[in-house]
Amino acid sequence: MTYRIAVLVSGSGSNLQSLLDAQSASELGAEVVLVVTDRANAYGLQRALDHRVAALYLPLLTGRKKNGNAQVDARAVWECRLADVITAFAPDLIILSGFMRVLSSSFLERFPNQIVNQHPALLPEHGGDMVRTSSGLEIPVLRGAHVVAEALQRGLPLTGCTVHRVTPVVDDGPVLARAEVPVLPDDDEASLHERIKIEERRLIVQVVRDLARADS
Ligand code: GRF
Repeated sequence: MTYRIAVLVSGSGSNLQSLLDAQSASELGAEVVLVVTDRANAYGLQRALDHRVAALYLPLLTGRKKNGNAQVDARAVWECRLADVITAFAPDLIILSGFMRVLSSSFLERFPNQIVNQHPALLPEHGGDMVRTSSGLEIPVLRGAHVVAEALQRGLPLTGCTVHRVTPVVDDGPVLARAEVPVLPDDDEASLHERIKIEERRLIVQVVRDLARADS
């Protein structure tokens, strides 16, 4: 049976591309069956279409709010639609690949142990605020949406990337794979992020291949 993957993206989708390329080369052991984006200009959508993969733009439209509840309702409806679409494609694995939305516990409960996230910094194996690098150095854990810039601001000697299972706690959950990336003296956010992404593209293919193999 084919190991089926749904990929959720909000941006460029270069990690998605690495999965699609590995699939085309018969090196993934899995098939990307669905790509969903919440952003109309996400290039990941085009990458999916180019590979004839089902692709969906599902915007979260909160519009003008009369009160806070309208926004909460719109979000719940959007999440429910997203979960329904994903369910229709029966994926074994859902990858949050640069997807800039935090998903609620009720969404996560519909896909127990099936969702993984790509995070462009090192996360610890067992929670906490510090992470130990391969050389034994303890560095602060960076969580949130601006961790590449933060690694530079804090003057960290190295950072990296993590693929981890998603739990209700943001940027937490069991680590599946990690890679370290040194911060170079003349790095800016773009150059550092690009070097991190080189590792991320390799790592996500490796993780999918391993999970697919373990499932077969
Ligand atoms: C990656 O760095 C990922 O860790 C982060 O968003 C970026 C997505 O890159 N969450 P791309 O859209 O795959 O190029």
